[in-house]
Amino acid sequence: MVKIAVIGSSSMDLVVTSTKRPGAGETVLGEAFKTVPGGKGANQAVAAARLGADVYMIGCVGDDHYGKAIIQNFEENGVTTDYVEPVTHMESGTAHIILAEGDNSIVFVKGANDAITPDYVQKARAIVEQADIVMIQQEIPVETVEYAAELCQELGVPLLLNPAPARPISESVLEKAAYITPNEHEAALLFAGISQEEALKKYPEKVFITEGKRGVRYFNGENEVLVPSYPVEAVDTTGAGDTFNAALAVALAEGKTIEESLRFANRAASLSVTKFGAQGGMPSRKEVEESL
Ligand code: RIB
Repeated sequence: MVKIAVIGSSSMDLVVTSTKRPGAGETVLGEAFKTVPGGKGANQAVAAARLGADVYMIGCVGDDHYGKAIIQNFEENGVTTDYVEPVTHMESGTAHIILAEGDNSIVFVKGANDAITPDYVQKARAIVEQADIVMIQQEIPVETVEYAAELCQELGVPLLLNPAPARPISESVLEKAAYITPNEHEAALLFAGISQEEALKKYPEKVFITEGKRGVRYFNGENEVLVPSYPVEAVDTTGAGDTFNAALAVALAEGKTIEESLRFANRAASLSVTKFGAQGGMPSRKEVEESL
């Protein structure tokens, strides 16, 4: 069983389903409202655990009702929470999601995720050191991402950086990460000034650009390759990227080839969109293997 440490956000997702997305200044009638666990870090931790990894979450929640529910959800999914600290000075992170017209819009409020400082991660150094791979995203402070990249390099542990949501990242973090998984919008920001093709060539078998329904693109040292995704009837695409990242990390840590890992990740992500909620459709290992 591979060991994965996730340094990242946790939140409660407040999800409204509506037939129409309101424009600025407009009110529309929604159809349903639900609260479900989310946050890119937490989603990736839960997805990796369902795929059979031994997962350690390094994160923070508020000392509140949502915080307790988030920790309980980790425990129900077999994610180790020794380094998920309830903090008293900030509320749990929340994501405000509208599901309408076949896609989502999300406003993420970091809350307690801002307490995931470099010092906080330093306390979990032993977990990072023992991990086969570390996953990180960008709903936490920028200094923490920088510190984690340094720490992973120092300890010789591969870091999978999911640069979501989009924000600029220093060249030194890009160099230190072992794998980077932007979508097209994030890639345009990360590699401003060069084309997507040049960015892929610059980082062979390291940068994987996800293109939604089309699949994922990378450079294998000789050619640019598109590994296609699997067509499915999507109910809710929230968390598909997180499932992709988690499955990719699990497969790479298990020693699968890049191509096999990307196929496995695409399959897991395609299954994840068939149910409501970021974590609702995240598949088990058996479900992915049976459908491959
Ligand atoms: O990637 C999906 C996640 O992004 C949601 O669960 C929400 O919490 C936002 O952070």
